Amino acid sequence: AEYDQPHRPQLSYTPERNWMNDPNGLVHHDGEYHMFYQYNPNGAGWGDMSWGHAVSPDLLHWRELPLALTVEKDDKGGVTQMFFSGSAVVDTDNTSGLGQPGKPAMVAMYTSVYPQDFTLANGRRVRAGQQSQSLAYSLDKGRSWTQYAGNPVIEQPPAPYADEYREFRDPKVFWYAPERKWVMVAVLAHRHKTVLYSSTDLRNWRYMSEFGPAGAVGGMWECPDLFELAVDGDPARSKWVMVMNLNPGGPAGGSGAQYFVGRFDGATFQAERDEWLDGGADFYAAVSWNGAPDGRRVLLGWMSNWLYAHDLPAAAWRGAQSVPRELGLRTIDGQVRLTQQPVTGFDGLRRAAVARGGRAVAEGVTPLPQARGPAGALDIDMLLAPGGAARAGVTVHAGPNGEGTVVGYDRERGEVYVDRRNAGDASFHAAFAARHAAPMALRDGAIRLRILVDRSSVTVFAGEGELTLSSQVFPRAGSDGVALFAEGGAAELRALQIWPLASIWA
Ligand code: FRU
Repeated sequence: AEYDQPHRPQLSYTPERNWMNDPNGLVHHDGEYHMFYQYNPNGAGWGDMSWGHAVSPDLLHWRELPLALTVEKDDKGGVTQMFFSGSAVVDTDNTSGLGQPGKPAMVAMYTSVYPQDFTLANGRRVRAGQQSQSLAYSLDKGRSWTQYAGNPVIEQPPAPYADEYREFRDPKVFWYAPERKWVMVAVLAHRHKTVLYSSTDLRNWRYMSEFGPAGAVGGMWECPDLFELAVDGDPARSKWVMVMNLNPGGPAGGSGAQYFVGRFDGATFQAERDEWLDGGADFYAAVSWNGAPDGRRVLLGWMSNWLYAHDLPAAAWRGAQSVPRELGLRTIDGQVRLTQQPVTGFDGLRRAAVARGGRAVAEGVTPLPQARGPAGALDIDMLLAPGGAARAGVTVHAGPNGEGTVVGYDRERGEVYVDRRNAGDASFHAAFAARHAAPMALRDGAIRLRILVDRSSVTVFAGEGELTLSSQVFPRAGSDGVALFAEGGAAELRALQIWPLASIWA
């Protein structure tokens, strides 16, 4: 496979060819992280939605496998079933009865979309546009899949919302140990609601409760997630996090993601606070892995935006996943905040540092000519004290004529920003060339910024990771420079390290 094209991400997953959107069915099993995803096997635009599949031993290095679930069509080529977003679990105790001795079932729960009035093989009738929740299972570690004969297992939304049968989707299933049952959360997208169900066998589901509208409701709610996290590393003080993706109405326009911190008692979720999950333009459909070892909670998002996803510069593939992010809950300034960091494996991709040590940053632009890497990917870690500067930071993907992506702290506005107004090709959509920012206070006069620079993206983790900004960029060939800058005064880097990163495809 060919993964060395100019804009091909070197730090995160792309399929070799064709269209990809949401991550689906994230589950760890038997030493492998599985990543399924919304995939069009027949083109580089959205359509014929199927589940693509890749596996990784370490969340860094991925191997693309054959399709898991493939769009179904009738004799005339009309689509009879598409496979929309969903999740996967490993049914270790064989609660479903679908497993065999020594072969636990990996069970995927997804949304069946039926574009036309149709009679299923089991004789059930479905209506044009209907979205229902279905199961498929695999006894060979996700390599081959069988659709459950009794599909769909949840045909209709709960009775009061029967008219939402075209907007009922994206089931996330997880094991709720205190009551030894499965819990599922799905959306009624237009109502800004999640609906929660429980099951003891993954096949029969009981409606429990609803949540929402709450927080941001500027667009449709899609791809929910719900999980428990220890606060400040103390499991006795855990809280629950509901992730809710939203399109449009995101913080940078178009699609975006928010989260609620709250409580879940096995039946009902109650939110205490809500925030954006990412302040950039390109982080959507974020969901987390089931069953990651050591109780880790790792989240992945689609690194794109429905606003312009179809218009991205043509390549063999279209759409990328983000770098996997390890989550935590920490008390910061008296509030429990979700923190995100690149999974620790990224440290292992670092090559010999090309810049090291704190330094003064004079007003103006200071190029760092040695800060380049052979794969076109960098890991930058800085403790930035803006001092007397109005704005200070680093420009990456720097090229001629002031081209570059600016990552900085704006002291006047008290925010971290990514400015891609002059970051290369933005001709494909009017909204792409923009500056995105999110508020954050300095601590002790400084801010920590960890920046992952890839061939077509820049991802910023600020502070302890309580703020992230994800941005796609399409720099011109050869625009791979790095420069420090300070505007309106001098700044200081109390610490700086820049490492070239090896490609995950190497
Ligand atoms: C989110 C989404 C989901 C849906 C899928 C279809 O990006 O719209 O709600 O299941 O994409 O591809």
